[in-house]
Amino acid sequence: MSELYTKHALKYAEAVKDNVYNAMFERPSTLALLDEVSGSDVLDIGCGSGEYAQWLIEHSAAKVTCLDVSQQMVDIVTERFANKVSAYQQDIALGLPNERDDSADLVICPLVLHYIADLTPVFAEIHRVLKQGGYLVFSTHHPFADIECSKTGNYFEREFIEDEWHTIGQPVAVSFYRRSLTELCQAVSSAGLVIEAITEGCVDPQIQQVAPETHEYLSKNPNFIFMKCRKR
Ligand SMILES: C[S@@+](CC[C@H](N)C(=O)[O-])C[C@H]1O[C@@H](n2cnc3c(N)ncnc32)[C@H](O)[C@@H]1O
Repeated sequence: MSELYTKHALKYAEAVKDNVYNAMFERPSTLALLDEVSGSDVLDIGCGSGEYAQWLIEHSAAKVTCLDVSQQMVDIVTERFANKVSAYQQDIALGLPNERDDSADLVICPLVLHYIADLTPVFAEIHRVLKQGGYLVFSTHHPFADIECSKTGNYFEREFIEDEWHTIGQPVAVSFYRRSLTELCQAVSSAGLVIEAITEGCVDPQIQQVAPETHEYLSKNPNFIFMKCRKR
């Protein structure tokens, strides 16, 4: 697990409140795929510092359960929202052993799946905990963006990438899995989830004011991919 989400969890929490990639691009694009959440039971997988939890509480979700592999992130969420959410440490690669079958109206999983090698069992667990008619919304690295980091040059072969990000204003080592669009979609489908929508995000015009070069880049290049997947 990257120190970005453990040692630097507090700095990360501060950065994503109002930064370009998370606050102005990723979150609005993910939220655009949600139906009305009022009265819903929601599971937030890889909750991070709780920016989505805050939105879900403000939009009257009936129950918000947050989980993250990083205990530091779980502590931040617990301190921020006290008894308004239930938060606990869980590695999603090991399943969702604390969640009941057919219990969630909505599962969200923003910017987490690229940290996991094998997505098939993850989507199978999400399918198990979703109610019939419930849905998953997730975002992850766009396969056509990550191919830029490839050392093998083989788009179709899953690849472990080591990189350095400046999310918190200093370089931090990160690693993630690059995979093809086919692998991603097959993992969703093999779990029995039906892809209802795929988007590549909407670039908020306010990015032009604060970061014109990033606005230009995001307007012309794929960066994240967003999917809405239903349990029928
Ligand atoms: C980029 S952050 C996104 C946080 C939050 N979803 C958001 O969009 O604000 C990725 C989060 O996924 C968590 N994470 C990474 N691997 C995970 C795993 N295997 N199981 C659960 N959480 C994981 C990290 O600890 C981190 O908090």
